[in-house]
Amino acid sequence: KNIVILISGGGSNMAAIVRAAQQQDWARTLGARVAAVVSNKADAKGLEFARSQGIATEALDHKGFASRDDFDAALMQLIDRHQPALVVLAGFMRILTPGFVTHYAGRLLNIHPSLLPAFTGLHTHQRAIDAGCKFAGATVHQVTAELDVGPILEQAVVPVLPGDTADTLAARVLTQEHVIYPRAIAALLRA
Ligand code: GRF
Repeated sequence: KNIVILISGGGSNMAAIVRAAQQQDWARTLGARVAAVVSNKADAKGLEFARSQGIATEALDHKGFASRDDFDAALMQLIDRHQPALVVLAGFMRILTPGFVTHYAGRLLNIHPSLLPAFTGLHTHQRAIDAGCKFAGATVHQVTAELDVGPILEQAVVPVLPGDTADTLAARVLTQEHVIYPRAIAALLRA
């Protein structure tokens, strides 16, 4: 079972998944492997890490396409060359078209840095702090046509501490993301 991971930046979630696959020997235990890491940014730092792990990497710049549909169609073609059992969005900062989401229905995951359904969209940590939340967290969910909604697979909760900034809270949440994303993927592939 091939996993294709989509990133746009640092790819720390992708790296955590790659390390889990290595350390838990997903090839043997799940018959699964990370087949490719794909980014819409050719300079995404995560691509270097993937290459260092011997994983195929591809970049597809969305600026080269006339429309969102054209970009997504090209992205699907690129992804499908790896025959993915699972497509994992990990810090992939693009809204995907309904056509893309439909094409991968049931095998498309995302991680969102809030306790969904609270705080869909961007700037989730600052919004949680501004709202006076005592807890925050992250959610792994199946991707559906509606942004940041979809069946929840895993969540992690962290305290919001006095004096927290968006950055200190983001760092605390990110640590937990690196735990729940590999766990959710392994559980889905084991099922
Ligand atoms: C994280 O906040 C994650 O929740 C969101 O993108 C941010 C960066 O993730 N999806 P990564 O370090 O690129 O995996």
